[in-house]
Amino acid sequence: MRVTRRRLRVGAALLVTGALVLSGCDSTGTEAAPSPSASPTPSRTFTAGAPGAGDAYFPSYGNGGYDVARYAVKVRYDPAKDHLTGTTTVQATATADLSTFNLDLAGLTVTAVTVDGAPATHRRERNELVIKPASGLVNGNGFVAEITYEGVPKPLRNETLGEGGFLHTPDGAIALGQPESASTWYPVNDHPSDKATYDFEVTVPDGLTAVSNGVPGGKASKDGWTTWKWSEKSPMASYLSTLVIGQFRITTATHRGKPVYSAVAIAANGSADSSIAETTEVADYLETVFGPYPFDAYGGVVVSDNRISYALETQSRPVYSAGFFRQGVNTEVVAHELAHQWFGDSVSLGRWEDIWLNEGFATYAEWLWAEHTRKSTAKAAFDSRYAGASAKLWKTPPGKPGAKELFSESVYQRGGMTLHALRMSVGDKAFFQIVRAWAAEKHNGTATTAEFVALAERVSGKQLDALFDAWLYGTQRPALPRRL
Ligand code: ARG
Ligand code: ZN
Repeated sequence: MRVTRRRLRVGAALLVTGALVLSGCDSTGTEAAPSPSASPTPSRTFTAGAPGAGDAYFPSYGNGGYDVARYAVKVRYDPAKDHLTGTTTVQATATADLSTFNLDLAGLTVTAVTVDGAPATHRRERNELVIKPASGLVNGNGFVAEITYEGVPKPLRNETLGEGGFLHTPDGAIALGQPESASTWYPVNDHPSDKATYDFEVTVPDGLTAVSNGVPGGKASKDGWTTWKWSEKSPMASYLSTLVIGQFRITTATHRGKPVYSAVAIAANGSADSSIAETTEVADYLETVFGPYPFDAYGGVVVSDNRISYALETQSRPVYSAGFFRQGVNTEVVAHELAHQWFGDSVSLGRWEDIWLNEGFATYAEWLWAEHTRKSTAKAAFDSRYAGASAKLWKTPPGKPGAKELFSESVYQRGGMTLHALRMSVGDKAFFQIVRAWAAEKHNGTATTAEFVALAERVSGKQLDALFDAWLYGTQRPALPRRL
């Protein structure tokens, strides 16, 4: 689902023309349908949906011409054979008159596709699955595509950002990664601008656990296989979906009426369990700063595979490398990933270049958590970095880091400093009002930096463009902010 103005414009056009023929609102940039003619059955021109969502950093990610509302992903994975079979149902609405449309799918072999129950033809073009329904899809109409596929899932390798996607592990698998991973295990419109709800059914050999996002729907065993159900009813960006299969220490609880489900790899040490056990306490603290926890479930997953050296804010249930807990309990990383539940997951990126909106907020939340737990203060965190940050940090603008610097120190540290600079400029009261208003107004949506700046100016009543220009886009150390 998209929370942009496009849908409203299309709706308005429909009302104005009073007919099913539209002109000029084809989101793919292809030719528009012809104007209504005297003919009682006006003809339409159906064109191919775009193979990318138009992201400046990752042009091939996502697709054009439709908007997904829900995925139902059913997969069976046999770790012994490293083999996956799947059927994914994609419930979407056309946003253009489509002759064909694409889904992102990396590797795997597609064996059957139907659209609205009728067989559809399909072909592969690298990591794109091109589907041609029996008849064209009409702009504004809903459709359901069902894709059946199988194969040995492989991760995607990004030159600078590393591996993302499905990894076979000694006892199972880990599907994880940012900015892309989902297309390695199910066909998907793989860009955060098209959030959708998800239902997962994962079948694995008895004795293994399969953990995914959202609310656990129980498990059922039959003929040596166990099917685990998970459902995420809040809109989710595709890179925030995860699947972790293996042997884990499981903890379940209920917190404020919501399920808590955490899984720690059996190879991880006890500090991992102790850290993950702080999840609800950290979430409750963040709630006092950011407003209500945005999702229906809580939890965390700790993985021990050494190819995963990061943590990721997978929705409602972040995944952490066991490495974070090797030296002892670490709640900073928990605070970081939980802060993303508000900033990144509930308020999502419309374009990858605005990544500081995720990482700057999550870094700032670490500083606030350190202050709350009396380890340090946000001011001290800002001051030490302002005095001692690397030259590269001041050269790399966090508001436009470039695709290769998506996870650079500047995006995180200078991103966090940008928020503290805002706080110094507008004062504590306005600053925390801004943060809460951002979480509330963009809840379950997508957002851009320009929208954040506009909101900050509106809530504070101050002119803030010079401040954000220097902190987000400047290529040298900004002057220390003064209270405006
Ligand atoms: N968003 C994650 C975090 O800050 C980091 C992901 C890093 N991704 C990567 N491919 N290394 O928690
Ligand atoms: Zn982060």
